[in-house]
Amino acid sequence: MIHRARFTWQVALIALLTLAGCATPPPPAPPPPVGLQQAWVQAVSGPGWAVRALTDEVCPTLRWGDSTVPMQQRSAPGDEAPPPGNTQPERKPTRFTLRACEAPWPAGAASVQVGHLTLHAPKAELRRIVVIGDTGCRLKASERDFQPCNDAFGWPFPRVLARALALKPDLVVHVGDYHYRESPCPTGMASCAGSPWGYGDDAWQADLFRPAGTLLAAAPWVFVRGNHEACSRAGQGWLRYLDAEAGPARVCQPELAPGDFNNGDFTEPFTVPLSPRSQLIVFDSSAVGSRTPARNSPAWARWRQQLDRVADLAQGRIQSLFASHHPSLAFGPSLTGAPRKASSGLTPLLQDATPGRLFPPGVQATLHGHLHIHQVLGFASNQPASLVIGNGGSAASGRINAAAALKAELLPGVSLETFQSHTDFGLSLLTATPEGWQLQAFNALGQPLATCRLAGQKLSC
Ligand SMILES: [Fe+2]
Repeated sequence: MIHRARFTWQVALIALLTLAGCATPPPPAPPPPVGLQQAWVQAVSGPGWAVRALTDEVCPTLRWGDSTVPMQQRSAPGDEAPPPGNTQPERKPTRFTLRACEAPWPAGAASVQVGHLTLHAPKAELRRIVVIGDTGCRLKASERDFQPCNDAFGWPFPRVLARALALKPDLVVHVGDYHYRESPCPTGMASCAGSPWGYGDDAWQADLFRPAGTLLAAAPWVFVRGNHEACSRAGQGWLRYLDAEAGPARVCQPELAPGDFNNGDFTEPFTVPLSPRSQLIVFDSSAVGSRTPARNSPAWARWRQQLDRVADLAQGRIQSLFASHHPSLAFGPSLTGAPRKASSGLTPLLQDATPGRLFPPGVQATLHGHLHIHQVLGFASNQPASLVIGNGGSAASGRINAAAALKAELLPGVSLETFQSHTDFGLSLLTATPEGWQLQAFNALGQPLATCRLAGQKLSC
């Protein structure tokens, strides 16, 4: 009887906990930040390099040799309204508890100390470039899509980062979509229990800064903006932390007229010199990627000006890599493998700016993400090679049948001659060669997926 009574009591307790949604207790919340959280070196418009840091104290000081420079505040802690135009069912104010700080890279310094972190000067020539993209853990209630953020197989971004670190890159390029934790993990779902959500710095820390902290300090970065970082989503954090404009952080407009683009979604294109022959051109397609403005509207003219600026920038080196989040020459994956032509709202603007080729002379290849798959496309017609590296960790499904892709016409007059795609999570390494670049794709365990060579705009795999 005693045993029976104890059993009944235990069953009642479990039933009570289950009803209360407590059967799978979430992991304990991380301790609150104290002091410097992360520091890194990133390319900024100008062009140039800046040191950025996140802290919950006052901005730290850069130290090297006998010199010191205090970092300046980009943004202070505080709450912002929910992102304007956000469509997720559950919304809350965007809470920032960390201060973002900045200083230009001090000329002549080989390395600087920021708190406990040592940051090294970018090399004069950047010959080993790790490219990653689409890396956050997807929690999105509007699509009922909840990735297992607590599982190393389900969300392999930390493994991808470890592989990237082992490659000892001169530069890391992230092709966009860092922040994916938009909605709360459903009650009782252990695979994502305890995750922060929303657009504040707790979700940013979980999706990017904490897992990437070591790689952020180990090499300079170029941050390309994805649609997840548009003002209607995680744009507030983007502008505070990663925007290429130096100085006090820009802000997203809080309200918009219907059909308007947010001023916070326009970023002047800028270059990152890689060598005397080669450069990156960084383009913000976050807001235009999914919708083309009406032809001859003010927004159309503004985007066209951005592309005119790209054409000017392309004259700065013999060869350029154009980096934007949304590809115009690529296929979307499907469950059957049937290739779907990827559409970008920027494509009609590119066709208007440079008919046929889409990109100005000198652009030998374009780097993108957005499609959660690795694919490379080389053309018999006159277009730069298109490299899509969106397999960095965010949930993915589907594949692309290569034979079908090679027969498909992406755009009128575009003829594909080289195509490969891989569904594994992973990263890519671009290594400078006398003719151009070698591209090596790896999965999250470091196993090779593909090796290609780029000579001019000709891709061979
Ligand atoms: Fe995207």
